[in-house]
Amino acid sequence: HRHLVDVDVFSEEDLYTVLEEAVRMEEVMKRPLKKVPALRGKVVANMFFEPSTRTRTSFELAEKFLSADVINWSSSGSSTAKGESLEDTAKTIEAMGVDAVVVRNKQVGTPEYLIKKLNGACVMNAGDGARAHPTQALLDLYTAWRHFGSLRGRKMAIVGDILHSRVARSDIYAFSKVGVQVVVSGPRSLVPLHVFDLAEYEPDVRKAVKGADMVYALRIQRERQEEGLFPSIDEYHNQWGINEEVLSHASKEAVVMHPGPMNRGVEIDSFVADGDRCLVLDQVKSGVAVRMALLFLYLAGGGDR
Ligand code: CP
Repeated sequence: HRHLVDVDVFSEEDLYTVLEEAVRMEEVMKRPLKKVPALRGKVVANMFFEPSTRTRTSFELAEKFLSADVINWSSSGSSTAKGESLEDTAKTIEAMGVDAVVVRNKQVGTPEYLIKKLNGACVMNAGDGARAHPTQALLDLYTAWRHFGSLRGRKMAIVGDILHSRVARSDIYAFSKVGVQVVVSGPRSLVPLHVFDLAEYEPDVRKAVKGADMVYALRIQRERQEEGLFPSIDEYHNQWGINEEVLSHASKEAVVMHPGPMNRGVEIDSFVADGDRCLVLDQVKSGVAVRMALLFLYLAGGGDR
């Protein structure tokens, strides 16, 4: 693949190619001198039109560890604030000799739009609207794979606001592709029909997590919801919040995951978020290795490390 739009074009072999490359990148990160020259002479522009902590900083670190030159662009403080279009902004950045554009935008389809408008720079999707977040799915897969050793035959329960979640869409695809049974749970009003192709829906969270190896809590995305959230935050917390009692229905070895940022006391209790079974910080750490692997595979063609 020349661009990274979503994981739904990845075969199982493609997914494992990224995971195995990420293992090698994790080794690089353990060295006293973390930098390798793989992307020396390449320029990467990180263009974030939506807020981000994890994705933006881990892409930047990954690019720097691979010795790329990095431009960090954000909509505030740039000419976008003066009304410049996405097309003109992207072409302006590309004219400076950029090899790759990492983009996050509220608008679904931004990566494909840029692929059409740009003259060949590699486009990487860092989250487009509620549709896709491929690098998050890959780092989630990597975290779970490193933890369990093998994933085929395991069960994952994804709990929360599936409707507005680009993470859920990409995760459901990636985990089911490698043989994980995916069950989603949450209020029916927050579960879109498309999930039923690849995942079961179980409204009762205790039944959904029964025997699950991975319990994946999603953030309630208040910023993407219309007025009058249903159910209310309190109702949501009481029925679907992940706490120790809910977890007691999962497998004894079950782990808890969350893409961040977390709403503590809403979709996840602090006791669980800070507990031994929570892999949230492993996910963050994996994010750097996985993004290094992706940048390496897409920009250096898997050549010298
Ligand atoms: N998981 C995730 O995408 O986090 P950020 O919004 O902080 O990048």
